Amino acid sequence: MDHIFSGVQPTGNLHIGNYLGAIRKFVDIQNRGNVAKAYYCVVDLHAITVWQDPKKLKKDILETTASFIAAGVDPKNNIIFNQSSVSAHAELAWILNCICRIGWLNRMTQFKEKAGKNKERASVGLYAYPILMASDILSYKSTLVPVGDDQKQHLELVRDVANKFNFDYGVNFFPEVKPLIIGDATRVMSLKNGNKKMSKSDESQYSRINLTDDKDDIRNKIKKAKTDSHNIMGLEALDDNGDFKAEVAIKRPEAANLINIFCELEKKSKKEILEIYAGKNFSNLKENLTDSLITNIVPIGNEMKRMIKDSLY
Ligand code: AMP
Ligand code: TRP
Repeated sequence: MDHIFSGVQPTGNLHIGNYLGAIRKFVDIQNRGNVAKAYYCVVDLHAITVWQDPKKLKKDILETTASFIAAGVDPKNNIIFNQSSVSAHAELAWILNCICRIGWLNRMTQFKEKAGKNKERASVGLYAYPILMASDILSYKSTLVPVGDDQKQHLELVRDVANKFNFDYGVNFFPEVKPLIIGDATRVMSLKNGNKKMSKSDESQYSRINLTDDKDDIRNKIKKAKTDSHNIMGLEALDDNGDFKAEVAIKRPEAANLINIFCELEKKSKKEILEIYAGKNFSNLKENLTDSLITNIVPIGNEMKRMIKDSLY
């Protein structure tokens, strides 16, 4: 039976990418029931790899915790906790720092993106970030990690670190870690630019649907979401696996993104959705996507807001 581990950074602006790519998967795993233990961690030590306002960080830790519970992760049957409250994460990270090779970290694309042009001025923590992630997972000998697609490379590094530790010491101490990256929303893109990932740090509120958005926010953001001048594609846009063909995803990233989000929310295949909307313009799809977001997301946001106000809880 798998041990599950996943983490979300408390950096505010939780959005539907975080929910559909990761948090909802935690709930699916819980409902499937065949796991030994599941740890869902609010990774505040990861958050401080870039500057955080201490007061806002405290608030964001509560918001992230609330998002797990509001989305349906049962705190009685899962372990929901704050990373910095367990010192083992930082301690094992040091040992793994001595296992991981600099060359491995140099290949990490997320560091390159986050550090930008001036990587000499990035924190050492930002550089070593994936090693702390390895420590998170391996501290509990977890085997299955539900995450969005952007974490794939980090999880490959986690496997490399675990293997090298086992090899160097001639032991079989750390288990094999497998990513769980499934569904149509493993990489939700910005509503303003289909080539950019939906992100907490995008300065445009119109780029993302936040979990705490109300109906009007959702309606406005979907109305303004970028599309293209063609009608919605037909079944010929799909490959044999039912995914968008590469050329379609490249040529029509915004259209593909809205359909992916809708499929994931409705738990329907692209074939089922395209059979309904093929050849139509985007207005009908946008209306139904808005309704689906309001039905699925607004209750989570309301529950988050309720919990955050109830400080005793
Ligand atoms: P973070 O906010 O970076 O800590 O991410 C928390 C979880 O959400 C991770 O599993 C990410 O892979 C996932 N995630 C973040 N952004 C997206 C996105 N745009 N689409 C899908 N999953 C995402
Ligand atoms: N790096 C992950 C992210 O930004 C968060 C994270 C930290 C994580 N530790 C983890 C995810 C361990 C899975 C397992 O999305």
